[in-house]
Amino acid sequence: MSKSIAGFSKLSKEKKIDWIVNTYFSDSEEARNILKQYWNTNQKVQQLHDEFIENTITNYYLPLGVAPNFLINNKLYTIPMAIEESSVVAAASKAAKFWLDRGGFKTKVISTTKIGQVHFIFKGDFSKLQSFFKEVKPKLLSDSKDLTKNMESRGGGILDIELRDKTENIDGYYQLHTSFETLDAMGANFINSCLEQFAKTFKTEALNFTSFTEDEKHIEIIMSILSNYVPDCLVRVEVNCKVEDLNENNAISSEEFATKFVQAVNIAEIEPYRAVTHNKGIMNGIDAVVLATGNDFRAIEAGVHAYAARKGRYSSLSHAKIENGIFTFWMEIPLALGTVGGLTKLHPLVKLSLELLHHPSAKELMQIVAVAGLAQNFAAIRSLTTTGIQQGHMKMHLMNILNQFEASNDEKKLLTEYFKTNTVTHSAVVEAINKLRVVSDK
Ligand code: MEV
Repeated sequence: MSKSIAGFSKLSKEKKIDWIVNTYFSDSEEARNILKQYWNTNQKVQQLHDEFIENTITNYYLPLGVAPNFLINNKLYTIPMAIEESSVVAAASKAAKFWLDRGGFKTKVISTTKIGQVHFIFKGDFSKLQSFFKEVKPKLLSDSKDLTKNMESRGGGILDIELRDKTENIDGYYQLHTSFETLDAMGANFINSCLEQFAKTFKTEALNFTSFTEDEKHIEIIMSILSNYVPDCLVRVEVNCKVEDLNENNAISSEEFATKFVQAVNIAEIEPYRAVTHNKGIMNGIDAVVLATGNDFRAIEAGVHAYAARKGRYSSLSHAKIENGIFTFWMEIPLALGTVGGLTKLHPLVKLSLELLHHPSAKELMQIVAVAGLAQNFAAIRSLTTTGIQQGHMKMHLMNILNQFEASNDEKKLLTEYFKTNTVTHSAVVEAINKLRVVSDK
C-alpha cells in the first residue's frame, strides 16, 4: 500500500528519491540507479532541467533526430525532430527527398490572429451592458498599456475586443472575446496578462456605471484565459507535380498510385475512424518539430483537432486532387507557435534546433512545422496505398526488438543485414536471434 506524504516538494532531490524508491520499488537500489543514470554530469545543465518543473527526480530522454533535404519555398532546411516512434524521422527524410526532386514544398501563412476571452456572468439588462462595454472599452485598452507597449512597439498587440452574448447557452453568460497579434511569441503569458487586466478594469468600472442597478453593478468574472483554438492562425502547405512524375515504384503505375492516394485522402475526409489515424500521422511530424523547437505540443494538438472537427464532423486535415494531369496534395492547419520566450532561450537543444532552422520567425516556423506534417502524411499514405505500412515500420522497429533481446553489436550487424532481404516480424526476429545464438554456442 502506498502512503501519502506532506511537504514532498520541500524535500531535497535526494530525499525525494529516497522516499520514492523506498515506497514504491521492491529493489530500491536498482530504481535509484536508473533514476541517477539519466542525470546530466554537467551540473549547470542538470540544474536547468531540475528547475523547469517541480519535483524533478531525473530527466526523461527522447531522441532528437534530423530530417535533411526539405526544400521549402526554394530554401533548403534540415528539420530537427524529437520523437520516440521508430519510423517517423526516416519517413520524413524519405518524403523530403521525394519532393526535393519535384519542386519542394510551397507554403504560405494565411493569418496569425490569436484569441483570448474573459468569461463573465451578468444578470441584467443587455442593452445597459452594451452601453457599459462601449464606454469602458477605451479604458480596457489604456489600463493594459504597460503590458502591451513592448508588443505594440514591435507591431503587435490587442487587435480588438468584442462583447459576446452567450446567454442562449448559459443564463447570464457573456464574454470579452479578444483578438491579439503576438508576432514571434506564442503569446500565452502576454494574452493571459492582458485578459486578467481587462477583467479587473471591467469589474471595477461596473461598480461606477450609473445606469446599472445595484445588482447589475456586480459583474461576476468566471475566468480569463487564452484559447488554444486558433482557426485564424493558419498556414497552408502544398506539394504538386505532374502525375507521370509521381511514382518511383515499378510495381504500380503513376496514374494508379495517384488515384489510390486521392481515394485514401477522400476516405479520411468522410470517415472519422480513418480521419483520426490519418491526422495522427500528420501530428507525428508536427509534434516532433514542435517539441524540438520548445513549443507547447498539447496546445497545438488541442487546436488542430478542434479545427479538424470545425464543420461538425471530425475530418482529414489534408486534401488531394488530380486536375489536368497535375497531382496536388495540401493542407491548411492552425499553428500558434513561438520562436521567442518560453523555452526558446533556456533549453540548449531548443536553441540549437532553432539555429539549425536558420533562426526562424514564428511565421517561418509555422511553415516548417506544417511541412513536416504534410511530409509525414505523404509518406504514410504512400506506404499504405502501395507496400502497406508494416514493411517500413517493422524495418525501423527491428532495432527495438533486437534491443529487447539485448543483442550484441555483432548480432545487430548480422541481423540487420539479414532483414534487408527478409520480412521483419516479431517472431521472425526472435527466431533469427535464437538461431544465431545456437550457432555461436556450438
Ligand atoms: C503511425 O504512427 C501513423 C499512421 O498510422 C498514419 C496513417 O495511418 O496515416 C501510419
